[in-house]
Amino acid sequence: MSGSPSTPSAGVTARASAKVNLLLQVGPRRDDGFHDLVTVFQAVSLHEDVTATPADEYGITVESVGGTDVSGVPLDGSNLALRAARLLAERAGVDEPVHLHVRKEVPVAGGMAGGSADAAAALVACDALWRLHSGLDGLAELGAELGSDVPFGLHGRTAVGTGRGDRLVPVLTTASFSWVFVLGTAGLSTPAVFAECDRLRGLDDWSAPPADGRLEAVEFALRSGDVQALGEALSNDLAEAACSLAPELTATLEAGRAAGAVAGVVSGSGPTVALLVSSPAEARRLVRDLAPVLGEGRLRTATGPVPGARVLEPVGTTRSTRGS
Ligand code: C5P
Repeated sequence: MSGSPSTPSAGVTARASAKVNLLLQVGPRRDDGFHDLVTVFQAVSLHEDVTATPADEYGITVESVGGTDVSGVPLDGSNLALRAARLLAERAGVDEPVHLHVRKEVPVAGGMAGGSADAAAALVACDALWRLHSGLDGLAELGAELGSDVPFGLHGRTAVGTGRGDRLVPVLTTASFSWVFVLGTAGLSTPAVFAECDRLRGLDDWSAPPADGRLEAVEFALRSGDVQALGEALSNDLAEAACSLAPELTATLEAGRAAGAVAGVVSGSGPTVALLVSSPAEARRLVRDLAPVLGEGRLRTATGPVPGARVLEPVGTTRSTRGS
C-alpha cells in the first residue's frame, strides 16, 4: 500500500452492518420471480468493513473477523462488493480500478445480509475514494440493482421495507435492543427458502392475506421501546420454510427460549436464529448458558439499531456521502 494516511491513495474504509428482520411478511410470488414483502429491518452491530484502494485492476480479498467462516465467499467477479464497485464506476464513468479488502464479521449465507452489507460498504467507500458525492438516494438506487437488501445496508437503523424489501421508510425509534445470534451449522440459499415457502403454501394462486396488524404491533413496540412487546410481535413468514430445509432450527429456537430469551425468530431466510434479550448483560448470560449446548463458536451478541453504511476513516479531503 503506498501513500501516507492523509492521501487518497491510502484507500478509504467504509463500514456496513448486518440486519435482522423484526417482521417478514411474504406475499405471493411475482412474475419477475421475486415476492412482495412487508418487512421491518433492524441493523445490528455485526459489521463488514470494506477498504477500497486504488489498484491496477479490480480484485478482492476477504479476512475473517471473530471466527466467521469465509470459505464460501466468492473471490471472482461474482462477488457482490466487486460488482458494486464496478457498477458505480460504470455509471459514473470512472476508470480507476480498486482492490477491495473485506473484513467480515457477518455470517455467510446466514440470512443477515452480509453480502448486501459488503455491497453497501463498497459503494460508500468507492464513492468517497472517487469523490463522486452520489448521495444516499443515488447509491441506494444502484444498490437495488445489486440485491433487495442492499438499500437497507446503506440506510441502516430501523426501517419498514416494501416491494422486494428495497423500498424503505425509516422507523423513528430511540430504543436500543439486545440480541444473541445463533449461527447455523450450514448456510441456506435465499432462493431455495423462498421456493420452499411457495411449495409449503402449495398454491400457485395463493394470494396475500389482508393486513393483519402485525406491522402495527412491531411499530408500537419499537416506539415504546418495550422489549416484551417486541418479543411478542416478532414474526417471519419464511421461518417454516427455513425449518423445513434445516430442521435443527426448531431445536435451536427452543433452546433459546428455554435459556430465557424474551423471544426467538429465524433471521431473514435463515439459518441464523435471532434471540431477543432484555439487556447486553442478559445477552452475555445467555451466551454463557447456551455455549455448552450449542457451541460457543456459533454465538454472537449484538445491539441494534446501528447506522447504515458510512466511511470509517475519512481520508484527506474525502468525505462520507451521508449528508452530502
Ligand atoms: O435480491 P436478492 O439477490 O437478495 O434475492 C435473492 C433471491 O431471493 C431472489 O432471486 C429470489 O429468489 C428471492 N427473493 C424473493 N423475493 C424477495 C427477495 C428475494 O423471492 N423480495
